[in-house]
Amino acid sequence: MKQVVADAAIREVKNDMILGLGSGSTAALMIKSLADEIRLGKLKNIRGVATSFQSEVLALELDIPLIDLSSVSQIDLAIDGADEVDPGFQLIKGGGACHVREKLVASKADQLLIVVDETKLVQNLNQSFPLPVEVLPNAWNQVQDVISEMNGNSSLRMATKKAGPVVTDQGNLILDVLFNNGIKNPKEIEMKINNIPGVLENGLFVDLTDKVLVGKIENNTPMVNSLTRSS
Ligand code: 5RP
Repeated sequence: MKQVVADAAIREVKNDMILGLGSGSTAALMIKSLADEIRLGKLKNIRGVATSFQSEVLALELDIPLIDLSSVSQIDLAIDGADEVDPGFQLIKGGGACHVREKLVASKADQLLIVVDETKLVQNLNQSFPLPVEVLPNAWNQVQDVISEMNGNSSLRMATKKAGPVVTDQGNLILDVLFNNGIKNPKEIEMKINNIPGVLENGLFVDLTDKVLVGKIENNTPMVNSLTRSS
């Protein structure tokens, strides 16, 4: 499902584009498909803007030309994965702790294309997937207290293959937050959380997504459903 959706995303790419290169396993497949098309000469003059150390390293390994976010005024198309997508195209991202740069890239992009498999489609956000919040290292428990006053249960994300917490590409920590009844008002929650001292950014992506490609299996065959924002 992830591969067909990654390949479908590359069909939206045109010559001369500046592309936001997302993070996560689906975005990684998309970056590999992009590299194949460039190598075969089917796509020309593509420059990528990485959303994470992961996408930067992958693009470098695959010879995709990169430019820094700070040196571009506009990105033509950003392609990225998501952890949850609601019917209004609001997202939770940050499962890979990359949402700070992902949101910067998405905000600079003319279009944000999201690539997911159908398990990511939800009616209401944050019923099961916790909202990632990036916090300054010495503020994590202070932020946790404020979030708990907002009826959010949070935990510090712990690393695997390293003792202690996950440290982000920016050198910060991640709190994963579940609200008691999920998130029904993403815009308000996004602003409230970002207003807590010590918070760098949270994983709610509100009114940023233009199109969602959904991979699914039908009759044992992987398919892609293309959903476009209606307004
Ligand atoms: C990383 C992200 C990813 O895009 C999100 O976690 C989806 O990843 P995957 O495609 O591996 O399911 O937001 O911060």
